[in-house]
Amino acid sequence: MNKAASLRFGEKSIELPLIEGSENELGINIKDLRAKTGLITVDPGYKNTGSCESAITFLDGEKGILRYRGYDIESLAQDADFLEVAYLLIFGELPTKEQLEKFLNDIKEESLVNEDLKKILESFPSTAHPMGVLSSLTSALTSFNPSSVNVDSEEEMYKAIVRIMGKLPVLVAWVFRKKEGLPLKYGDYSLGYVENIARMMFRKPNKEYIPNPVVDAALNKLLILHADHEQNCSTSTVRIVGSSHAGLFASISAGISALWGPLHGGANQAVVEMLEAIREDGGDIKHYMQRAKDKSDPFRLMGFGHRVYKNFDPRARIIKKAADEVLNDLGIDDPVLEIAKKLEEEALRDPYFVDRKLYPNVDFYSGIIYRAMGISTETFTVMFALGRLPGWIAQWREMRLNKEPIGRPRQIYVGENHRPFVPINRR
Ligand code: CMC
Repeated sequence: MNKAASLRFGEKSIELPLIEGSENELGINIKDLRAKTGLITVDPGYKNTGSCESAITFLDGEKGILRYRGYDIESLAQDADFLEVAYLLIFGELPTKEQLEKFLNDIKEESLVNEDLKKILESFPSTAHPMGVLSSLTSALTSFNPSSVNVDSEEEMYKAIVRIMGKLPVLVAWVFRKKEGLPLKYGDYSLGYVENIARMMFRKPNKEYIPNPVVDAALNKLLILHADHEQNCSTSTVRIVGSSHAGLFASISAGISALWGPLHGGANQAVVEMLEAIREDGGDIKHYMQRAKDKSDPFRLMGFGHRVYKNFDPRARIIKKAADEVLNDLGIDDPVLEIAKKLEEEALRDPYFVDRKLYPNVDFYSGIIYRAMGISTETFTVMFALGRLPGWIAQWREMRLNKEPIGRPRQIYVGENHRPFVPINRR
């Protein structure tokens, strides 16, 4: 096959080379398009635009495939530990026992958070959304660790990486505990990465902390499922902020803000709020289905649809199964799980959803598990951010190591043509 595409406009015609990925995906390389033709491409929402070449995550939305560095998400979620998945995403290979131990120890070394950050946390109103607070604290980390700001060498990058891997779980636990009115503490660093996160979050001051293996395993699975998803909204944000060399912590802080929105990671909160509203309204699923299909109604079925998955979201399948298991193991009977299942059943046989290839996504069932673990609705997306951290780091590192240029899209200007300034007394 000719590995080039031809573009004809008016009398002119040019050849544009194709790029082929390792899974035979093809893209048209338009790097020299403007220089050769004066033209740019316009693609709102970047529905057809590849922003980079990446060796981290492979996703086939038609076939429902998701792989981190070549490994199926199903086997990683089943058998792996979140920290080894983090290592895999960031450094490209599964770690040996020694490499994993070193990584964990380096993270532990860097897991202290300056106590002054507590003052910043304390100054937020109790109504502040945890995602806004987490994004602010992550940005503030830069001021307390100025040497992590602009890093060039791989050693400096490694230092910044273990710092954020160590400090973000502490911030997440503090944000959660502040919301719950619990004292802010550090973890027990003799524990594994995930077990320590669970302890930091759930330990109560009036009783001994007894780890719950069901909660630890569910948390491990959810964090792995959230760990990366190639060039989604928050990851693209991290890459573009990082491309100005703003530094890792500032880039992650921007990623957290992007993830917050209900069309992205914030959907896990929106799903449970929607299910609760349906329950309180008498559980009339058909009424809400009707609303979701009505174009004059802004209501959407939250947790449904995906920009890339047009068959099924493999993460949703794993999470649906886990939701049943976790609620069962914890002896919790949550009525919204039943509503969610009925809603899914209805949607999957409704021509509106079938024709538009709208399936449950990762957020449809994840909130129900977080809720069973004792996490409040507003904090769900904070957990998503914690899971996505290694993906953001891996993508930032890849972008810096590949020496990618600063991200700077163009536009087609559609505003006023040149006109003279009119003084205020003549307007
Ligand atoms: N409920 C009802 N209709 C929908 C929904 C939905 N959840 N999602 C898409 N549609 C319709 C949409 O109205 C449009 O219909 P038409 O062709 O008649 O105009 C069609 O399906 C295509 O939708 P789109 O908005 O053009 O698709 P998109 O790729 O731009 O948006 C999405 C993808 C995820 C933002 C969207 O499906 C959505 O808003 N879903 C609900 C929010 C949600 O669950 N987000 C979490 C995404 S997964 C977690 C993550 O990685 O961020």
